[in-house]
Amino acid sequence: MSATGEAASLTGQATELIDAAATLDELREVQAELLGKRSALAAAHREVGRLVADERPAAGQKLQEARKEIERLLQDRRAFLEDAERRERLGRDRLDLTEVILAAPRGRLHLVQRTRDELEDVFVGMGFVVAEGPEVETDWYNFEALNMPPAHPARGMWDTLYLELGDPETVLLRTHTSPVQIRLMKEQGPPIYAVMPGRCYRRDTPDARHIPIFHQVEGLVVDHGISFADLAGTIETFTTAYFGPEIHSRLRPSYFPFTEPSAEFEVTCSICKGSGCRTCSHTGWIELGGCGMVDPAVFAAVGIDPEEWTGFAFGFGIDRLAQMRHVIPDMRVLLENDVRFMRQI
Ligand code: FA5
Repeated sequence: MSATGEAASLTGQATELIDAAATLDELREVQAELLGKRSALAAAHREVGRLVADERPAAGQKLQEARKEIERLLQDRRAFLEDAERRERLGRDRLDLTEVILAAPRGRLHLVQRTRDELEDVFVGMGFVVAEGPEVETDWYNFEALNMPPAHPARGMWDTLYLELGDPETVLLRTHTSPVQIRLMKEQGPPIYAVMPGRCYRRDTPDARHIPIFHQVEGLVVDHGISFADLAGTIETFTTAYFGPEIHSRLRPSYFPFTEPSAEFEVTCSICKGSGCRTCSHTGWIELGGCGMVDPAVFAAVGIDPEEWTGFAFGFGIDRLAQMRHVIPDMRVLLENDVRFMRQI
């Protein structure tokens, strides 16, 4: 074969081999095969030495050109493979910013706590301060100072849980938040504009509207010239502030030993908006709590002069309020800690 033909066939074979190299490692092997001592090109060079003297330069030059061409092909392929490998590596390491990483689920406050917080906000907005008292009380704060001496029949209104502490039936889990009124009046004295939220305990059989551990918010106002109209106005203002303008309140005569006169206060049934339904026994109203003018005997127990000061008090169930507002048919779910219920509200 002529030197020109041989050079062309060498570059032709080299092109095929170089194009077939799929990685840089393979290309290095191909390079050794094409340009190394045992390569066809090296053999062709050796052949040139055996040619007659005047043919040698041209043949040598052709092979030199073939070598240059092979080196250029290798160089191009190397650049291509390096680029491909770099892209592949980058693609592998790339941070996928579109990935949606689910945040750890966060808990939330219990419905009763949220209702309590909202109530506090509403009352603070009306000018009340928030006070608290202990859940373990003495008989004196829970009953006696509230005008219920031992053996008073009205004590029967509250099924009390007593603790085995001190003399029998002297220490108990408070049955209502009214003892906090006594503490405030004794410790602070008038004028008082306060609400007192907290947990209460009664030996009540659980049913749709009763649970043994529940929550109340107590309200107490003591000042000069406070009248029943102030009580009615305060309850109406609270009702519309909390439930909205469609819901109103009304007072129905009742009895509590620590208020005189006393009333139950009711609000428009939030389920039927007052037209009457099963929940409100077709009356259009639902009872929320009790209220009345502070009885002079209570003022006497805490050393406040009933001739100088007058006041009103109210107390209602927070769980009952939440039940009404969120249309919960059975209050017991509030204590069951079923997350399917908790998540809904
Ligand atoms: C009282 O507890 C009085 N201390 C309220 C009061 C305060 C009257 C100040 C006058 C002046 P009563 O026992 O009716 O009243 O309870 C008031 C409210 O607490 C009820 O209307 C109801 O909403 C809620 N409640 C009572 N018992 C339970 C219970 N077992 N489970 C859930 N809520 C209850």
